[in-house]
Amino acid sequence: MTPKTIETTPYADQKPGTSGLRKRVTVYSQPNYVENYIQAIFDSLEGFAGKTLVIGGDGRFYNDVAIQKAIRIAAANGFGKVLVGQGGILSTPAASHVIRHYKAFGGLVLSASHNPGGPEGDFGIKYNIGNGGPAPEKITDAVFARTKVITSYKTLETDDIDLDAIGTQRVGDMVVEVIDPVADYADLMQTLFDFDAIRGLFAGGFRMTFDAMNAVTGPFAHAIIEGLLGAPKGTVVNGTPSPTFNDGHPDPNLVYCKDMHDLLMTPEGPDFGAASDGDGDRNLIIGKNRFVTPSDSLALLAANAHLAPGYKAGIAGIARSMPTSAAADRVAEKLGIEMHETPTGWKFFGNLLDAGRVTICGEESAGTGSNHVREKDGLWAVLLWLNILAVRKQSVDEIVREHWKTYGRNYYTRHDYEEVDAGIANTLMQELRAKLPSLPGKVFEDDLQVAYADDFTYHDPVDGSTSSMQGVRIGFADGSRIVLRLSGTGTVGATLRVYLERYEAADGRHDLDTQLALEPLIGIAEQLAGIKARTGRTEPSVIT
Ligand code: G6P
Ligand code: ZN
Repeated sequence: MTPKTIETTPYADQKPGTSGLRKRVTVYSQPNYVENYIQAIFDSLEGFAGKTLVIGGDGRFYNDVAIQKAIRIAAANGFGKVLVGQGGILSTPAASHVIRHYKAFGGLVLSASHNPGGPEGDFGIKYNIGNGGPAPEKITDAVFARTKVITSYKTLETDDIDLDAIGTQRVGDMVVEVIDPVADYADLMQTLFDFDAIRGLFAGGFRMTFDAMNAVTGPFAHAIIEGLLGAPKGTVVNGTPSPTFNDGHPDPNLVYCKDMHDLLMTPEGPDFGAASDGDGDRNLIIGKNRFVTPSDSLALLAANAHLAPGYKAGIAGIARSMPTSAAADRVAEKLGIEMHETPTGWKFFGNLLDAGRVTICGEESAGTGSNHVREKDGLWAVLLWLNILAVRKQSVDEIVREHWKTYGRNYYTRHDYEEVDAGIANTLMQELRAKLPSLPGKVFEDDLQVAYADDFTYHDPVDGSTSSMQGVRIGFADGSRIVLRLSGTGTVGATLRVYLERYEAADGRHDLDTQLALEPLIGIAEQLAGIKARTGRTEPSVIT
């Protein structure tokens, strides 16, 4: 069958953000919008003729439509084979594993992560390279450049693939294999964690609730937590993927998982609560009477990873995104291992992981993961927590408190101002940047002296590349810090993120209310950036 070349005209707005191209479904469903973007990706790659492409998504609205298009375009461009998850489903970490396991050339991950889905919701396409991780900026920049000048795309006129039928089908000369989305991933998890010990935990009456948020981790959690690990049926809730996430917002934070949080704070509630987002790469961890911040979770997992078989030889190093709290830095220091601070976006961890310089990575945005794949991995974090709980035989709260007594506590919060006018947000950042040189040495709130103020630039130690303007940092002499940056994942207007952090030593006060502990810094951020006056908002739209 001969590929057809179809003429098209470029769209000006196909610039990949922190994590692929995320837009409203209404934007994606414009004529040739998907086709242009996928062809631009393939035009920016070399050497894939006859090779394998992995395709999978989080099952959201438009997933199936985009997958059928992607398969045809892949066939017309000369890929030899497509591996696609049954029903078009692959969690983002599972897609990363499938790419690595089958030594594919790369993959298309279709998701808008934790953003709502449905005809009025969001959709996204992200290209991952052969290491299983998001494409580096070199590729995403080339893709964007290509989208601006594209004049045609290649496709085939064929019937739709039956995405529900496991096994092999053909599209032109290309083989399409529909695979079980869960099996390979579940095998991998069993190589990393002590499933017998976790089974023993559940057999001993340990009670857990896992909220799959009507999204992609449902089938994975049912198979692994209730199946292989023997947790009682009903442990996994909202476990059937829905194209609209049942009209929910699949973001595992304290706003959208408030009911679970409240349950964990009651005496009759379970011992452990966890959740994952739309595409399965984020995690939320709550113990009885103890919410664990993502930054603390990274530090705790790094400090205890050796208790799981996959990490018993120890970890090589830790990496965190710049806005993530420095709690993990103290663990790295104690272990005498490398610590790296990277820009926001999982793609920046890829080189460090490939080079064997770090084993565990994490972000304040509820992502943690390791060198087992090249994406953050929600269920992995949950299973590592379970493995640690099974070995230490303590509650989450006890483990967290012991950690703070050893390393000190980094009080931490993030205030988001969503859907702010993009012009106002950009001016706010520009004027703040202009103030930075004057700040060092200044004293705020009587005793908070600015030690440094800059716009973060990352020098990748592996490939030597530089990424500048990654967020404004204002650091104080006592280790406190204010970070401001604009989100790279929003789809409407701009989202301003304000990250606040204060360190309390190992023998200090660990039981303060987080927002109160950070109040002086919240005030300084307002004073410097004038957020309320400029945006007209009286309070953040989300506090994490
Ligand atoms: C996605 C990315 C993460 C990033 C997060 C927040 O989940 O995969 O790496 O930390 O978005 O990014 P943003 O630019 O919105 O702060
Ligand atoms: Zn996600």
